Amino acid sequence: MTAITWSRAESEEGLVPFDGRRHLRQVAELIGAVFADELDTSGRSALQEMEVVSRLSPLLGGLLSSTFFSEFVLGYVWVDNGSVVGNVTFQRTEMSGTRWRISNVAVAAEQRQHGIAKALMQATLREIAVRGGSWAVLQVRVDNSAARHLYQSLGFADVCQDGIWQRPPLPITLLPEPPADGAAEVSLRRLRGRDWQDRLELARAARSQLAYWAEPVDASNYQPGLGKLIGEALGNLTGFHQVARWGGWHNGQLLGAVEAVAANAGNQHQLRFDVRPGAPAGFAKVLIRQGLRFLASAPIRPIVAEHSGDDSEGVAALQACGFRPLRILLTMRRLMTPADV
Ligand SMILES: CC(C)(COP(=O)(O)OP(=O)(O)OC[C@H]1O[C@@H](n2cnc3c(N)ncnc32)[C@H](O)[C@@H]1OP(=O)(O)O)[C@@H](O)C(=O)NCCC(=O)NCCS
Repeated sequence: MTAITWSRAESEEGLVPFDGRRHLRQVAELIGAVFADELDTSGRSALQEMEVVSRLSPLLGGLLSSTFFSEFVLGYVWVDNGSVVGNVTFQRTEMSGTRWRISNVAVAAEQRQHGIAKALMQATLREIAVRGGSWAVLQVRVDNSAARHLYQSLGFADVCQDGIWQRPPLPITLLPEPPADGAAEVSLRRLRGRDWQDRLELARAARSQLAYWAEPVDASNYQPGLGKLIGEALGNLTGFHQVARWGGWHNGQLLGAVEAVAANAGNQHQLRFDVRPGAPAGFAKVLIRQGLRFLASAPIRPIVAEHSGDDSEGVAALQACGFRPLRILLTMRRLMTPADV
């Protein structure tokens, strides 16, 4: 990797290690401008918090930024004529681990294609290697060809795709359709709380090894804790928030499951499904249609489904049922080597 030199803090030009006291407000402004179309409500409030912290910090003698940001959040900025025009943030994913997450890669629109992002990324990778990191991991929208090109040129490889799909708020009319071969033989039944271990095992089987590397399935999403049971029971009772699950077994094994959440008092319904690799063709569609049939009696709202973008049959089934991709994130990773130091 090419050697990188950066300017001294006093001169503040070019590549500079991120310092919360000096750069936080400008970084928040840059990220707000570059990702204006993409930030959801939580992203916007996180940015507002960054701006508040940057204003409070001088009053607190730099305490907030110097401890929090130097310990947990690292980064580089690119300064041009005293203004921050580029940023990269990186942090260890878990305290004891050697995996690092890179985020907030942004260059001001008028400064692009001059090698700024590449210089920021190279400095970041070197710093991760110096700190003993073994993997650098990031996420990028699949349709962001400029950023994907940048990461590929630095040695990042694809890991998995996670998609958010949305069905517009239209009435649900499901015409009967001839069941696909094989899928017809698997009949669905309502899942109960006691089926949680089968659902967890299915979710693990449905995730590819690489996807599992990126994010293992969280067992607590399936374990029926008392709080969750009461919450679901109350939701069903009041009609505010109704949850229903179905599954199809074959030879004692859960082949697929669907969960539909009718948020009668909220602004969108949710649908989630898993299909075991090797399940009969067409089974994903059977599951989605079952969930939609349940949601057909709820108020008309958008329906959001989170599903792996790597599951081509599941994706085709979502599209056939009227879902369109809202955002598909590609996880990429790069193995750090001694040459990076
Ligand atoms: C993606 C982004 C950070 C690139 O910044 P940049 O400073 O223009 O990138 P660089 O000039 O360092 O270019 C790095 C490489 O990407 C290529 N590249 C940059 N922009 C490109 C574009 N629009 N189309 C094709 N390739 C592009 C460059 O040619 C270069 O390739 P090379 O190393 O093979 O020569 C910038 O476009 C940006 O801020 N976009 C909006 C925010 C964003 O999408 N961030 C990434 C989120 S994951």
